[in-house]
Amino acid sequence: MSNGAEREQWGSRLGFILAAAGSAVGLGNIWRFPYITGQNGGAAFVLLYVALVFIIGFSVMLAEIAIGRAAQLNAVGSFKKLKGGAWTIVGWMGVAAGFIILSYYGVIAGWTIAYFIKSFTGLMQIAEQGKTADFFVGFITNPGLVIAWQALFMLVTIYIVYKGIGEGIEKYCRVLMPALFIILLVLIVRAVTLPGAGAGIDFYLKPDFSKITGGTLGAALGQAFFSLSLGMGCMITYGSYLDKKEALPGAAAQVCFLDTLVAFLAGLVIFPAVFAFGVEPGAGPGLTFITLPNVFAKMPGGAIWSGLFFLLLFVAALTSAISLLEVVSAYFIDEMKWSRAKAAWINGLVIFLLGIPSVLGLAGKLPKFAGRDFLDSADFIASNVLLPLGGLFIALFVGWVWTEGAEKEVTNNGTKPFALHTAWLWVCRVIAPIAIAYIFITGLKW
Ligand code: PHE
Repeated sequence: MSNGAEREQWGSRLGFILAAAGSAVGLGNIWRFPYITGQNGGAAFVLLYVALVFIIGFSVMLAEIAIGRAAQLNAVGSFKKLKGGAWTIVGWMGVAAGFIILSYYGVIAGWTIAYFIKSFTGLMQIAEQGKTADFFVGFITNPGLVIAWQALFMLVTIYIVYKGIGEGIEKYCRVLMPALFIILLVLIVRAVTLPGAGAGIDFYLKPDFSKITGGTLGAALGQAFFSLSLGMGCMITYGSYLDKKEALPGAAAQVCFLDTLVAFLAGLVIFPAVFAFGVEPGAGPGLTFITLPNVFAKMPGGAIWSGLFFLLLFVAALTSAISLLEVVSAYFIDEMKWSRAKAAWINGLVIFLLGIPSVLGLAGKLPKFAGRDFLDSADFIASNVLLPLGGLFIALFVGWVWTEGAEKEVTNNGTKPFALHTAWLWVCRVIAPIAIAYIFITGLKW
């Protein structure tokens, strides 16, 4: 067993918060949240989403951080140490989800680098000719090119994980997260001052509750899990590097707050811009890569706005990707006694290779499974099966199995009282499991 004394730690509480927020803030916030909101009717969805984040998301996040900090181990090792038996499977599912999610996440993140560069080398002209959809399809169906960008992205990710917790993940998140925030604020100022932005702001901020249906609830909870990086041991792993003296509930709340803030702010960039230029808000996954370049091309200095936006996406994706690779690497470091270098490089390479079928699927070079290409299938298995199931078992574990230990951990052995602790436990015991079971069942329509 690895011993706690040698375990690396975050240099400070802020370091942990920025790294955990870096994990949470990703493509899920900037690429996925706006189009899911667009498809689900706007403001009413946003309100529902925020409520779910703070009731269920926060509770599961606190549960995960408590498990990791108590055990001082990776996701698999934590369950093994705290209880063992079949509970270890929850950790395994998390490690598996890390492999799967990063395999395709790296592909989309690679696109963001390509689009960043293309912003300055022709994307604006393509948009002026109305050809962003053709360009996007041409790009993603060119496997050689996409794999090259994916490889570059994975190399950067591997390098940061290889450097370790303090000198790698924390150091980069400390720079990248504030940078992300600044870019976002600059883009918001640009978007909300566009003529005609008001209609987008209304759509985004004036709720119409008739738009809330059972499906909306599922979409909101699924989005909350993916966006907060929950259900796969990411926060277990990051929590395991957190100093024993730090208070957990406040840290979990801050991470939830930052993640939601960035998603919310990303909407404030996208909806005003999209409405100002009369584009359809429910445009789906293509909203970012097809619709937005059109919007940028119509702005003065469009290349710069476009470049900034794709840089933002890249930074957000990078700090999430490192957390995914860290979940997997921590398992090999703790349990298999691999060196950090070996764990980061070998797992990174394997995950890169696992991403190639996603690339080939998009290029039409692999058969579809029940109408889904490889990337969609991988996302479905991870986001709709592994993450909800993982979240369900994590909540049950804390609510019913390892309850006393969890209570001790979240109160630092009774020295830091947590006012909401009864409410938290009941969310873990009953509310989160029922809600997750519900999305799990509704989300399983393959
Ligand atoms: N939370 C990340 C995002 O919003 C994705 C992610 C999921 C990262 C699970 C780590 C674990 O893009």
